[in-house]
Amino acid sequence: MKILGVSGSPNKKGNNEKAIELALKVAQGEGAEIKKIFLSRVKVGPCLACPSCKREEKCLQEDDFNDLIPLITEADGLIISSPVYMGSVCGQLKCLLDRTVFLRRKDFHLRGKLGAAIAIGGSRNGGQEITIQAIHAWMHIHGMIVVGDDNHFGGIAQAPIGKDEEGRRTIEATARKLCQTLRRLTG
Ligand SMILES: Cc1cc2nc3c(=O)[nH]c(=O)nc-3n(C[C@H](O)[C@H](O)[C@H](O)COP(=O)(O)O)c2cc1C
Repeated sequence: MKILGVSGSPNKKGNNEKAIELALKVAQGEGAEIKKIFLSRVKVGPCLACPSCKREEKCLQEDDFNDLIPLITEADGLIISSPVYMGSVCGQLKCLLDRTVFLRRKDFHLRGKLGAAIAIGGSRNGGQEITIQAIHAWMHIHGMIVVGDDNHFGGIAQAPIGKDEEGRRTIEATARKLCQTLRRLTG
């Protein structure tokens, strides 16, 4: 069981990276092999809507994106965390999500993988559910199977997450649900 955690935040050691570390710790406890992508450490620009990936099934832009593809395609489950920016996902994460479009064009490479989302806002009700919805939309468009936290939509927290005990609980529950569902599906 391979679980990939993705933090969309530009902040090194910020709340989203802490959330992914927490989720992956739970996944490891459930027996998963874990990997992570922190977008604060790599450069992934926006999709330029050029036709290259229609022909070649890869992106011809020269940034770090192509190095991340194996991590995404080899995972059985993805847990993706975004800070809430103006009521939705941050631009850094949206760039990564958009650039994966070619993975569905021919063979739907992410179809059947499991996905779960985390959103962290500065406010208690700052748009976390809408942010999670945007991540879920990406997952559905890839034909993935989406899970929540076994209660609501996923990990929902207010920064700083060190002070948000209930938020941390939803993050842990989301990671647990992802692993348990994966185990159920794969036997
Ligand atoms: C450009 C920008 C827009 C933001 N918009 C929102 C928002 O709409 N709602 C909210 O609750 N917090 C908002 N915030 C606060 C961040 O969501 C919050 O600080 C987040 O948890 C930071 O995560 P990080 O520590 O991983 O970077 C915004 C922050 C920035 C920089």
